[in-house]
Amino acid sequence: MHDFQKLVSFSFPTNILFGCGAVKELGPHLLGQSFKCPLIVTDPVVAELGFFKDIVSSLESQGLRVTVFSEIHKNPVKSDVIAGGDVYEANDCDCIVGVGGGAGLDVSRAIGLRVNHKRDLFDYDDLIGGDKYVTEDVPYLVTIPTTSGTGSEVGRSAIISEDESKRKRILFSPKLLASQVFADPELTYGLPPSITAATGMDALTHSMEAFIAKGYHPMASGIALESIKMCARSLELAVKEPKNAQARGEMLLASLMGAVAFQKGLGIVHATAHPLSTLLDMHHGLANSMMIPYGMEFNEVGMEEEFVELAAALGAKGSVSEFLHELKSKLGLPEKLSDIGVKEEHLDDLVELAFTDFCLPANPREASKADLRAIYEKAL
Ligand SMILES: [Fe+2]
Repeated sequence: MHDFQKLVSFSFPTNILFGCGAVKELGPHLLGQSFKCPLIVTDPVVAELGFFKDIVSSLESQGLRVTVFSEIHKNPVKSDVIAGGDVYEANDCDCIVGVGGGAGLDVSRAIGLRVNHKRDLFDYDDLIGGDKYVTEDVPYLVTIPTTSGTGSEVGRSAIISEDESKRKRILFSPKLLASQVFADPELTYGLPPSITAATGMDALTHSMEAFIAKGYHPMASGIALESIKMCARSLELAVKEPKNAQARGEMLLASLMGAVAFQKGLGIVHATAHPLSTLLDMHHGLANSMMIPYGMEFNEVGMEEEFVELAAALGAKGSVSEFLHELKSKLGLPEKLSDIGVKEEHLDDLVELAFTDFCLPANPREASKADLRAIYEKAL
């Protein structure tokens, strides 16, 4: 039961144009706002894809002077952002368009911050109160997702690593929210099945963790449940029929809605998945898919009512964790951590990192180091 004497804040302000062909509206949208010189930020892989080249040539044919910046790392670092900010200024750009998965979109947001905020980039780190320095305007930002997982297109933070240590820092400000999202399912048709599966499991994890996370946010909870239904209906189909508009559309929406929902918080699945990426360079979505059956099994204790709702949303006949094991096997995802290079000797470090992960405090059930070790041992 929520105590209504306590103040809570809710926020869903992003404009989204959604549907097949939505990206064709980008040029008219920019021109309609009197922008002439967009900086398009993406990653080196997307920069070579046909649909990306089509976006650029279409904008140019409409009279826009386009600058592309794609020199970014898979896990973006500070120097990528500084270089992008320099390119923005050297080319007299007047707005930013981020195109990509989490990396490209996070860098586009961080470049937006950099343009009018010249302190050291990590002075703006949210975890040391850096958002108080975000006082100036940021350029107009449009985001265009090309994967269905992170939901970064509707986010207001950017995860950027230190160049040397690779330590991840979080830049955050409501000002970093995109002014407009163009979410076009056709841009995800070319994703290979393994990436569709892993990113889709990331979206499902966001919604499931948000639904049961601590905190009171009934709007986020409602959005999470609808997103879970979409993942249950469409993830397997999107993996098996890459050009199925219905399945790709639902997964793109589920991903975007999962990111809206997780402003409520995440939990133990992300907390145990993050160390697998930090220590062993495992893909974020794959890492979540490895941990979600075990993290959810752990969380069911004490949350039996919420798990009835989760099972109903998933259409699970048995338990939630049984459903997740079956879904993973239908998607062709690996079953055990030991199948993908994790060894007993990694467990100490994994437990230490998971215990201090920034996602753990929002988990509904308290987890000790012994609990975390038990979860990793089951997953191994
Ligand atoms: Fe995630």
